[in-house]
Amino acid sequence: MLSSKLPDVGVSIFSQMTLLAQQTNALNLAQGFPDYDPPLALREALARHALAPGSHQYAPMPGLPRLRQAIAAQVARLQPDAPRPNADLEVTITAGATEALYGVLAAVVRPGDEVIILEPAYDLYGPAVRLQGGVPRYVRLPTPHFRPDWDAVRAAVSPRTRLILVNSPHNPSGAVFSAADWQALADLTEGTDILVLSDEVYEHLVFDGVPPLSARQHPALWARSFVLSSFGKTYHATGWKVGYCLAPAALSAELRRVHQFVTFAVSTPTQHALADVLEADHTDAHARGLAAFYQAKRDEFAGLLAGTGWELLPVPGGYFQLAGNAAFSQQGDLAFAEELARKWGVAVVPVSAFYHDGYDPGLVRFCFAKESATLRAAAGRLAQPPTAPA
Ligand SMILES: Cc1ncc(COP(=O)(O)O)c(C=O)c1O
Repeated sequence: MLSSKLPDVGVSIFSQMTLLAQQTNALNLAQGFPDYDPPLALREALARHALAPGSHQYAPMPGLPRLRQAIAAQVARLQPDAPRPNADLEVTITAGATEALYGVLAAVVRPGDEVIILEPAYDLYGPAVRLQGGVPRYVRLPTPHFRPDWDAVRAAVSPRTRLILVNSPHNPSGAVFSAADWQALADLTEGTDILVLSDEVYEHLVFDGVPPLSARQHPALWARSFVLSSFGKTYHATGWKVGYCLAPAALSAELRRVHQFVTFAVSTPTQHALADVLEADHTDAHARGLAAFYQAKRDEFAGLLAGTGWELLPVPGGYFQLAGNAAFSQQGDLAFAEELARKWGVAVVPVSAFYHDGYDPGLVRFCFAKESATLRAAAGRLAQPPTAPA
């Protein structure tokens, strides 16, 4: 008989809530994807490459050289204070940040190794560690700001700690690491062999004029870090599943050992299309414009919910709004999220889904990467107590 390696893992909460949204005709503010399309220039580029002869066979294993060069050039422009990544040795194109996350963990975590995960956390971190025989060590981020308590993180470090996984801007809270946070992480790992996996898929979505900061911009951290980004998030193209990992050559080599057996190479025409738009965008207008684009959505959604009883937490980055549900619900957040979809017509993600032990901080997560019309319709429903039973 097959005995599951992940017996406690079911269908992800994001898929569950999307299904519930479809079944109940609720507006889907649950799963983190935009309801608008990637820029036309990118879609046209994909169409061109899809029709053209000659770009339909395997790309080189680490990614198309022209895409890796375009990424290295853009990263060098956006992070002039950090060393320019070497396109040949330090940039690896993956099937979304998901594959990079899994690949890094598979490459470096041995049975019994501990990995520190700050919760609430993206749902794949813990299971991916456990599949390697690793042991997740969970440290809770303090509410309501969700910035790490570095003393608590330090207390979780042991001689078995192999890696610390961080995520800034953070899903689900939107918390953003400051220079002091990165420094604290650097201090904590100094003189150890601990690696850092820095999930920066929302890297450009930092609001209120605060400059985005990457683990790459701290020299001591860069030496021990895998830094992940996602074209899905950056180009409103979550369905394309293309991301990349920046890491020093020796670390990238280890990721590539796994990548070549998991995916081998990411879709060739898609990589060409991304290279076209990156090469053409000399001023990085798209990436630089994302903060204002999403800040406007954040502010629009918050403005629409003002005075409705929803207690909105601050959102320094990312594309999610956390909201306290105390005014509307005395039940657990999962039951409340189901009721919201069925009776109020809005699907959300209960934040307990981001804790391995089901801890319920009494919050739900709205994705505001939506057209104004969707945000307005959702806010209209959220402002009205439900009138009809499910
Ligand atoms: C924090 C975080 N990491 C990784 C991913 C996965 O990125 P991708 O779609 O590029 O695989 C997501 C997607 O929602 C995310 O929120």
